[in-house]
Amino acid sequence: ARTLRPTATHIGRMLDDLTLLAGPTLPAGMTLDIANHMPDQAVLLDSGLVQDGLLNLILNARDACGGTGRITLEVKPVHETWIECTLRDTGPGFSKSALAHGFEPFFTTKGAEGSGLGLPMVYDMVKSAGGDLRLSNVDDGALVTMRLPYRPAVSATTGLVLLVEDADDLRALVRDMLIGLGHSVIEAASADEAMALLADLPDIALILSDIQLMGEATGLDLAKRLPPDAPPLVLMTSLPVDDTQFLAAQAIAPVLRKPFDIKDLTALIAPSELAAQ
Ligand SMILES: Nc1ncnc2c1ncn2[C@@H]1O[C@H](COP(=O)(O)OP(=O)(O)O)[C@@H](O)[C@H]1O
Ligand SMILES: [Mg+2]
Repeated sequence: ARTLRPTATHIGRMLDDLTLLAGPTLPAGMTLDIANHMPDQAVLLDSGLVQDGLLNLILNARDACGGTGRITLEVKPVHETWIECTLRDTGPGFSKSALAHGFEPFFTTKGAEGSGLGLPMVYDMVKSAGGDLRLSNVDDGALVTMRLPYRPAVSATTGLVLLVEDADDLRALVRDMLIGLGHSVIEAASADEAMALLADLPDIALILSDIQLMGEATGLDLAKRLPPDAPPLVLMTSLPVDDTQFLAAQAIAPVLRKPFDIKDLTALIAPSELAAQ
């Protein structure tokens, strides 16, 4: 699976696209209802992978219903911490063995028709995004609950950015990119410096921090120290994708892989790009 690449995403538009993709795959006797209760604001998501995941769940629901039935997808925020997607269908529900083994690669009850790779793929995507996936049954069918971290995209294209990076040359490079995008920038080389600036400056719109920093504390430590009302955090790193720190970082915040260019940066922090999607 490819690395998650979260970008500023408008959930409503992603769901409209999903309707267009899913519609033609459903037989005449099936309906798909999508209810979106997310605020009308861009969030950071890998919309391609999330859409693939939801489509996989919809196809499973279709297969389970066998020709006639109803699929309902509801998307809503939970405690401003999660984006919760619940997918219900009116099929027979998950079998006992599917509930126990559904996330294991190659588990399928569809014989030669099935690959048994749909749910594991969705599970991996959700886990590496720092979320959670659950299978269950309700009175009249199956229920899949997907939770993804709720991270509003930075809505100001000209806000103040706290740039935390210990390498002087890199810091200068990223600072110039940010200024080029219309941001103002203040800089820190360590987590301690960053915390001090945050305490002093109430209008920081975004924190962009390297994982490896000057001193003991890393960008991950900085993430843990941030108060709940802190501005959004984006981490940057050149660590390999299978590094444990990189994996831990993905679960905490969106991660920009170095080297990145202004396009990668814009995709994360400038929702004006949404218009171009
Ligand atoms: N909505 C659902 N209702 C009932 N069973 C389901 C549902 N979705 C998935 N399953 C069960 O989980 C198994 C694994 O699903 P998946 O990993 O997508 O592989 P595949 O669709 O190729 O079988 C399915 O074969 C099926 O038994
Ligand atoms: Mg499947």
